[in-house]
Amino acid sequence: MKNMGMKVSQAGFLGTGHCVPDQVWTNKDLEKMMDTSDEWIRTRTGIAQRYVAPKGVNTSDLATGAAKKALEMARISAKDLDLIIVCTLTPDRSLPATACKVQANLGAVNVPAFDLNAACSGFVYASIIAKQFIETGLYKNILVIGAEVLTRVINWNDRGSCVLFGDGAGAAVIGRVDDGYGMFGTDMGAQGEGGKYLTIPSSGVEMPRTDETIKNELAFAQMDGKEVYKFAVHAMPGAAEKVMKLSGWTSDEVAMLIPHQANLRIIESASKRLHIPMNKIFVNIQNYANTSGASIPIAMDEANRAGLLHRGDKVVLAGFGAGLTWAGLAMKWF
Ligand SMILES: CC(C)(COP(=O)(O)OP(=O)(O)OC[C@H]1O[C@@H](n2cnc3c(N)ncnc32)[C@H](O)[C@@H]1OP(=O)(O)O)[C@@H](O)C(=O)NCCC(=O)NCCS
Repeated sequence: MKNMGMKVSQAGFLGTGHCVPDQVWTNKDLEKMMDTSDEWIRTRTGIAQRYVAPKGVNTSDLATGAAKKALEMARISAKDLDLIIVCTLTPDRSLPATACKVQANLGAVNVPAFDLNAACSGFVYASIIAKQFIETGLYKNILVIGAEVLTRVINWNDRGSCVLFGDGAGAAVIGRVDDGYGMFGTDMGAQGEGGKYLTIPSSGVEMPRTDETIKNELAFAQMDGKEVYKFAVHAMPGAAEKVMKLSGWTSDEVAMLIPHQANLRIIESASKRLHIPMNKIFVNIQNYANTSGASIPIAMDEANRAGLLHRGDKVVLAGFGAGLTWAGLAMKWF
């Protein structure tokens, strides 16, 4: 019997990577497309630009690019993987899973692969799932990817939401780390009754996508920004607080908070509530906008490659998103 529910090893991030398309749209570019302004977008959200995937570049392409970098940093080959999870709300297709396409792209022959949709909380959800497999000793190396091409599902006629999003992918290899390092407290949750606040009505079997639903703007994201904002300023710091408490850590011990990058004001509000100063919070929303499931792993990879994460640092990931969902993860960088 291999699995008795006992922890046989500690799980942590062995390598990170990210990938974005070449094309950048600045706020000034959006000014030419709709009635908006660079000033409005910057002051309300902190966003200055976003990456936009051109036709022919799909979620699996960005996911594969990010995965290759994470594998390289972890110094393992795709053949060493035991599981691939792709977190996305914009899969290439609803069938097959984008994770299977990525598996084929990487040449990870016979490695199990599946998609997970917890919207912007997806990467943290999947990391928590990966932690269980590593800790029980069942698996050794798990590839978790957050990847999105949101610019194809947002409503470009709705200036209140379309300016917020961008495309990209972030990835991490999760595996065994030394005792005393890696992942500690975790939290994930959902409030399904809030699903209506951020949704694409015509995107599945309930209301199949047709010319009619496209014309009526039902096939694109609809968001009640104020409701999502209210949820976010409560849920994201709530998840961070919970995982710090579960780990026995206080705010001032935290070296770096890596939050979901949805809105700078939401991040600033979390900073106040958590008593974690902004200089200990990683922010890159200005360059990427909100890339949903890719936002936290892109931020983590940038922080990692910039040398901002040191062995032993207490790092907290916290996210929220459609569903409504939230998730948090506390770890000691290895
Ligand atoms: C979307 C969001 C930035 C809007 O900010 P806000 O301060 O609530 O702004 P409002 O929606 O009240 O709009 C204020 C005004 O700006 C206008 N406006 C909206 N979008 C605009 C844009 N892109 N450019 C210029 N003006 C805009 C509105 O029409 C409104 O004008 P009015 O006062 O004349 O009616 C904010 O609600 C938010 O960030 N919500 C959370 C969204 C989120 O994080 N989603 C992702 C979840 S993972």
